[in-house]
Amino acid sequence: MRQARSVRGADVAGKHVLVRADLNVPLEEGRVADDTRIRASLPTLELLLERGAASVAVCSHLGRPKGPDPAFAIAPVAARLRELLADERIEVLENTRFDPGETANDLGFARELAEGCDLFVNDAFGSAHRAHASTVGVAELLPAYAGLLLLDELEHLGQLLGAVERPFLLVTGGAKVADKLGVLENLGGRADEVLVGGKMAEELRDENPLSFPVVLPTDVVAASEFAADAETRTAPFDELPDGWLGLDIGPASREDFARRIRAAKTVFWNGPMGVFEWAPFAGGTKAVAEAVAAVDGYTVVGGGDSVRAVNELGLDDRVSWVSTGGGASLELLEGKELPGVAAIPENQG
Ligand code: 3PG
Ligand code: MG
Repeated sequence: MRQARSVRGADVAGKHVLVRADLNVPLEEGRVADDTRIRASLPTLELLLERGAASVAVCSHLGRPKGPDPAFAIAPVAARLRELLADERIEVLENTRFDPGETANDLGFARELAEGCDLFVNDAFGSAHRAHASTVGVAELLPAYAGLLLLDELEHLGQLLGAVERPFLLVTGGAKVADKLGVLENLGGRADEVLVGGKMAEELRDENPLSFPVVLPTDVVAASEFAADAETRTAPFDELPDGWLGLDIGPASREDFARRIRAAKTVFWNGPMGVFEWAPFAGGTKAVAEAVAAVDGYTVVGGGDSVRAVNELGLDDRVSWVSTGGGASLELLEGKELPGVAAIPENQG
């Protein structure tokens, strides 16, 4: 893989630095509900401060506002960042998506962001699949460097694209089937086994469009309706009672998936096995998370829901890499070049 130029090699003393981080975190009642991405942005900011940057302007998008919208103001995110890293030299700019020039990768908006800055550090791995003014536009106006998180993500996820220790297992689930077929095809073609659960499994039950076979559940937790308190029963995967929905993989499938996962040497897991936000349908995802954590080998978890499951179960320390990227990690593993990374000059050393 192409090596983007690292911030470690940048001379930042006395400089005004613009940093693009991905601080697109979930908010609840105006407060930061999960600060994982904010914490993940700290090492680069600390490095810049330690090396004597004169000022550090941090920018990010937050949500998908259609223009300026108080519900998406960056203030709560900025407040959390200041709690974690209090330094007068840090300034957090307003949500980049308040300006329509952001998603249009408009030169005028990129110039506004770059104004008064000497160099640009892109640490927003989670947004690297977006060719926006704050990820690509500014990189064309200022000397651009890759931040530490961005580089770590590329290195850890990139290992799955190279030679891996086998057996190599891909475990996937969730509902965004169309988003994931590309990764499945690219990575799955090289994996020794592909386990599919969740909504994704249903999509592949009758017809598998992939060029290789996949392991599907044999049983599911069936629910009488789509509700947390629905009536439930275990049913064979291909024989759901009429009108019932499969909302989790069943006990036999959990055992089967867990056994296969534990025997692997490399695992990439993306997407829950069911509607894990509801306790009666969380068992499959929990079994997969625990099996991944028990693997004696290289394990990577990506995608918002799987990452949340791993964090909630307190297993994040037991996987080799938990990615902050959702769509970005999928596109990278699909084998695509990420525009935010392509915009950073290559490492010359
Ligand atoms: C993400 O949460 O996946 C990134 O922050 C990108 O957000 P977006 O999908 O709104 O561009
Ligand atoms: Mg996304």
